[in-house]
Amino acid sequence: MNKSAQQPDTEQADTEQGNSLIELSGITRVYGKGDATVYALRGIDLRINDGEFVAVMGASGSGKSTCMNIMGCLDTSSSGSYFFKGVDVGKLSRNQRALLRRNYLGFVFQGYNLLHRTSALENVELPLMYRGISPAKRRLQAMQALEIVGLKGRESHSPGELSGGQQQRVAIARAIVSEPAVLLADEPTGNLDSEYSHEIMQLLTRFNREQKITIIMITHEQDMAEYADRIIKFADGAVESDIKNGVLNNTNNQITDIEREDINSKQQRSIS
Ligand SMILES: Nc1ncnc2c1ncn2[C@@H]1O[C@H](COP(=O)(O)OP(=O)(O)OP(=O)(O)O)[C@@H](O)[C@H]1O
Ligand SMILES: [Mg+2]
Repeated sequence: MNKSAQQPDTEQADTEQGNSLIELSGITRVYGKGDATVYALRGIDLRINDGEFVAVMGASGSGKSTCMNIMGCLDTSSSGSYFFKGVDVGKLSRNQRALLRRNYLGFVFQGYNLLHRTSALENVELPLMYRGISPAKRRLQAMQALEIVGLKGRESHSPGELSGGQQQRVAIARAIVSEPAVLLADEPTGNLDSEYSHEIMQLLTRFNREQKITIIMITHEQDMAEYADRIIKFADGAVESDIKNGVLNNTNNQITDIEREDINSKQQRSIS
């Protein structure tokens, strides 16, 4: 892959797009065919800036995970455009998307998704292994990440020997160990009781404030969503409302023609 796709044109995106990190424009996702067709996303325009903490809410089946999977380069849209740091993700190959994921994104899921017969430490080391980091260095970084999430002393425990809240903290350590630009969390507290949920949310808030990691988190719980500074509600495959710091955020997402032209020229520079 070329260098610019590995390293999106951050300077351009930051100065000209108001720290714009993610730009979705007219994103649709259609599953199936004929009678079985499902219009999971019906045209999403969304801009998320560097450093935001965004909660995504909405009824079951409203398209939240579908949209997050597209933002996370785990899936591609049926139509529309997605720019990540000024790079047109739709023009990247599968391998380039995998690299973008590995270098810029961290994931946390409701079910933790840890390897079961593997220690907490080895679970956290995994993404560093994929990045080709030396065993000694990745051990050190994984130990530090586990300490940050409050699991010092539990490094050798396997997931089965940890509580749900602790397992989710291992998953968070694994997501942040490679210092992602964005943490994508799909119902990270969905399996946890209230006390553990608040602990996880405090941890996410800290990463957002102190390490400036952009967080996009799906949740069904209003009190979890309130940790975020922006709440986007989905309904039937579309954005129903978008509130930032208590104020309706309805002008930010539509990309103007001038901006689109700018994005296009930027994309020409960074991909070609
Ligand atoms: N692989 C798939 N094949 C067919 N339809 C799908 C697929 N994945 C999702 N859908 C459909 O797309 C719609 C949106 O699903 P999605 O998983 O994004 O919803 P969600 O908002 O995350 O819901 P939940 O809160 O239950 O997790 C649903 O109608 C769902 O049935
Ligand atoms: Mg979902």
